[in-house]
Amino acid sequence: MKKLPIVMDFDTGTDDAIALICALMHRDILDIRAITAVAGNVPLEATAANTLNIVDALGHTDIPVAKGAAAPLKRELKCAISHGKTGLGDVVIPPSKRSFSEKDAAEVIYDAAVECKGELICLATGPQTNLALAIQRHPDIVHLIKKVYIMGGCLVGGNMTQASEFNAYVDPDALQILFRSGLDIAMIGLDVTLQTELPVWVKEMVERIETPEARLASQVMDFCLRRNKEWGYDVANLHDVVAFCAIVNPSVLRFKRYYVDVETEGTITRGMTVADFRDVCPDKEKNADCAEDIDLGGFWKWFVDIFKDYERK
Ligand code: BDR
Ligand code: CA
Repeated sequence: MKKLPIVMDFDTGTDDAIALICALMHRDILDIRAITAVAGNVPLEATAANTLNIVDALGHTDIPVAKGAAAPLKRELKCAISHGKTGLGDVVIPPSKRSFSEKDAAEVIYDAAVECKGELICLATGPQTNLALAIQRHPDIVHLIKKVYIMGGCLVGGNMTQASEFNAYVDPDALQILFRSGLDIAMIGLDVTLQTELPVWVKEMVERIETPEARLASQVMDFCLRRNKEWGYDVANLHDVVAFCAIVNPSVLRFKRYYVDVETEGTITRGMTVADFRDVCPDKEKNADCAEDIDLGGFWKWFVDIFKDYERK
């Protein structure tokens, strides 16, 4: 079977890290052309180092890793607090000795798109700055990427404000460029990813698996669960893992296609992803498959099985 060519862009943070680890266990079906990093959960130096360190610690030194944007297109970077100072809580990964790609993320994404002649898919689980830069610099990229899967936005609600999700809020201008580009998008939004409240039994099952991938992922999950207990205000969600799941196991999600645009200027709606639920813009082409629901049992089984199956290999 032909492998799916993919570039993944992360603001590696805790849930990005677990999505990345899951992706690295799928190289039998994914042709990972490159992995890129963007500022978001923490500053770029940290997201980039986390990304490269994870890739190399798990033995994938053949995959190029590129640094991307250090700040949103037009605004100051606003980082998250929930991932700790380094982005990975108290989890420490040996520093890689490898260098980043010479080209920046936007160029690396474009090169991969050209090489893959229309077959490339992208996963982006941070602010969409790198993809937006690639579109601005190389408008023809929109004909060269098959689909972009994002963790970002939401059909209803938000976590940064009552109307916007973190990645969308941090760089709404970039997300607007993406939604207006003509690219085909799968939006795995916050209203669906919030449903995946990490059950302790999932962490415990992964913990029992004796591979470096399971060890690292369970350390990160353990941090998320401990942090949330201390803070007593939130459950742990593996948002970005759901976006990865949409690529390799879409049947656990239910999607509906909408025309979606992004608010950049609103005083209380910056970063709001606005879907045309009632076809009030019939002249606008539907641009996104939006996740509306998830089969939680199926999702957690899929997640645990990735680690089990990889151990057997
Ligand atoms: C998103 O924000 C980040 O903190 C997570 O990594 C995820 O991509 C959820 O709103
Ligand atoms: Ca993220």
